[in-house]
Amino acid sequence: MGLEQVRRDWTRLGSAEPLWAVCVDPAKRHGGWDDDEFLASGRADVDPTVARLAELGLRGVRRVLDFGCGAGRLSNALAAHFDEVVGVDISAPMLAEARRLDRSGGRISFVLNERPDLSLFGDDSFDLVYTDLVLQHLPPDLAEGYVREFARVVRPGGAMVLGVPESERRTFKGMVFRYAPWPLVALAQRVLLRYPAPMRMHTLPAERITELVPHGRIAASDEYWGGDHWRHLRHYVVLGDPR
Ligand SMILES: C[S@@+](CC[C@H](N)C(=O)[O-])C[C@H]1O[C@@H](n2cnc3c(N)ncnc32)[C@H](O)[C@@H]1O
Repeated sequence: MGLEQVRRDWTRLGSAEPLWAVCVDPAKRHGGWDDDEFLASGRADVDPTVARLAELGLRGVRRVLDFGCGAGRLSNALAAHFDEVVGVDISAPMLAEARRLDRSGGRISFVLNERPDLSLFGDDSFDLVYTDLVLQHLPPDLAEGYVREFARVVRPGGAMVLGVPESERRTFKGMVFRYAPWPLVALAQRVLLRYPAPMRMHTLPAERITELVPHGRIAASDEYWGGDHWRHLRHYVVLGDPR
């Protein structure tokens, strides 16, 4: 499955149920998310993460990339801390929802990117890249390509915050995602769970991130709750100078 299929699936998810597709909770299907509650969930993730970045010594952050911004849950929270946030997504209807929910007073710009890279941004053009609940939904080769791109667009001395599943837990669902063929999982999501489009789940272990970003150092990896079936880590990667 390539990027075009990812784009189609997330366009369908964004058209049908954008807020539920961002934060999948069976109790929130069919318009169950309240906008304020949805945005508050973004602040609950971002505020402690920004405090952790300060603790790790990151200073001078002005411009931030929110990769896979969806409906702007994290972009809004980031804009409360930083001057300029660029939210990038592959799904046009998700971006429409993000524009509807924009409470930043003009500090966020939302950009559609349908490419497997970030060539619309120059080298060293951000102080921080933030991504959560995104890379896991991509085929691993695509996810890895974006991580390399994050390292290119972040300036030396800047950082990346990567929220990713480190490994599956040994639950029934965790093991299904690990061992069952993807077409079977996709079919079950469509037919049994009635998802508007399937959602992949892949892990991205810390040691792979280290290989992908040779001029980066994982300064901290904090566990956080990302459902019962995966062990999620939020990695704080500080960039050195690649040259
Ligand atoms: C589960 S949502 C998470 C949204 C947001 N990060 C949050 O936590 O609120 C995943 C988002 O990633 C986007 N996405 C998937 N593949 C992408 C890609 N290749 N480039 C940019 N965005 C992508 C989807 O369209 C969707 O909006």
